[in-house]
Amino acid sequence: MIDKILLTVLIVTAMNAVLAVILVIAERFLANYGTVRIRINEDKTLEVQGGSSLLASLNSHKIFLPSACGGRGTCGYCKCEIQEGAGPLLPTEAPLLTETEIGTQIRIACQVKVREDMQIRIPEALFNIHEFSAEVMLLEDLTYDIKLCRLKLIDPPGIHFKAGQYIQLRTKPYDQVRESVSRAYSIASPAFRTDQVDLMIRLVPDGICTTWVHRVLKQGDRVTFVGPMGDFQVHGQHEEMVLAAGGSGMAPMVSILHDMAAKQVTRKITFFFGAVSRKDLFYIDEMKELEKSIPDFTFVPSLSSPDPGDQWQGETGLVTVSLERYLKIADCTQIQGYLCGSPGLINACVKVMEACGVTRDRIYFDPFA
Ligand SMILES: Cc1cc2nc3c(=O)[nH]c(=O)nc-3n(C[C@H](O)[C@H](O)[C@H](O)COP(=O)(O)OP(=O)(O)OC[C@H]3O[C@@H](n4cnc5c(N)ncnc54)[C@H](O)[C@@H]3O)c2cc1C
Ligand code: FES
Repeated sequence: MIDKILLTVLIVTAMNAVLAVILVIAERFLANYGTVRIRINEDKTLEVQGGSSLLASLNSHKIFLPSACGGRGTCGYCKCEIQEGAGPLLPTEAPLLTETEIGTQIRIACQVKVREDMQIRIPEALFNIHEFSAEVMLLEDLTYDIKLCRLKLIDPPGIHFKAGQYIQLRTKPYDQVRESVSRAYSIASPAFRTDQVDLMIRLVPDGICTTWVHRVLKQGDRVTFVGPMGDFQVHGQHEEMVLAAGGSGMAPMVSILHDMAAKQVTRKITFFFGAVSRKDLFYIDEMKELEKSIPDFTFVPSLSSPDPGDQWQGETGLVTVSLERYLKIADCTQIQGYLCGSPGLINACVKVMEACGVTRDRIYFDPFA
């Protein structure tokens, strides 16, 4: 009996798989949607060849929606209101949308195919996202696995962004990697430096983009990127700011702090930075300089597992430990939290902040996921 059930399940699964393959092949080679129109904000109309995703179709006309995963359908950043022509909600979109978003015609632009005329609405601010070509000015080791990558802008020659935002770097095919991919990297340089962008890129084992940056890219190479994107930025004017980050999560914080120094901002700022041991720490001298140039700024690095040879005199333990120690004796009613790094670090810091009385609406974060 069990054998028969198993066999039936196997046959149905195999038939579904064959059907899916046939559909993909038919879509690829037989479907011809011809030219279709995308009307944007009841104002502008694009003519595109039907069959590609909405994200790719807009990109082909140099209109860029935010995207952190490069169209893989995992980040959910490419949300877009599609008023007409989107077709039914796809299973790949559902996990990335809330009930309210589904009810208000929000869709995932990298998953929705443009097969018929479409009407969409996008925020005007997105027209400020451009494609840039740039030259690699500097590639420098910050630690054994984080590189500083400085890009000199060529075309267009300047970028206007808010400290905290990110760009999407596009790789070129290399070795066995035949495709170009796009990945998000926070801008580490200050917003007043419009002719270049600094990125801090941590090597992810077997990662396509980070291996390309760490092992293939050379000074003098030309690259392309799209930006600026993202909502991670400073809010308010006088509230105390508590920053927490780990690893390459340092990047947007450096940009924010340089802006604070340039503007001589007097609000109280404390930056908790977590690392494993001394070899994972970087920008210590820069932070000391920023402590001198920002009127009320303190940098608190913490090592979770210092090596005996590190001769570490500073804070020890996870970054959440130093953060909690500080928040427990601070007046949390006005504090704003700014967090950047892995989703694990962010979730842990949010928990500590909320438990100490920093409400969720005052916690801003940028998960590198
Ligand atoms: C808004 C935003 C800003 C970001 N800013 C930065 C930044 O300033 N600096 C920076 O170094 N990164 C940053 N990231 C992460 C970055 O976009 C890439 O995800 C990361 O560099 C890996 O890309 P990859 O192509 O090398 O790896 P992929 O080829 O995408 O992944 C290869 C494998 O590694 C896993 N993986 C992917 N990312 C990670 C990770 N971070 N840690 C462990 N495993 C991983 C994947 O699941 C996969 O199995 C940011 C991400 C976002 C969303
Ligand atoms: S670009 Fe990441 S989900 Fe669409």
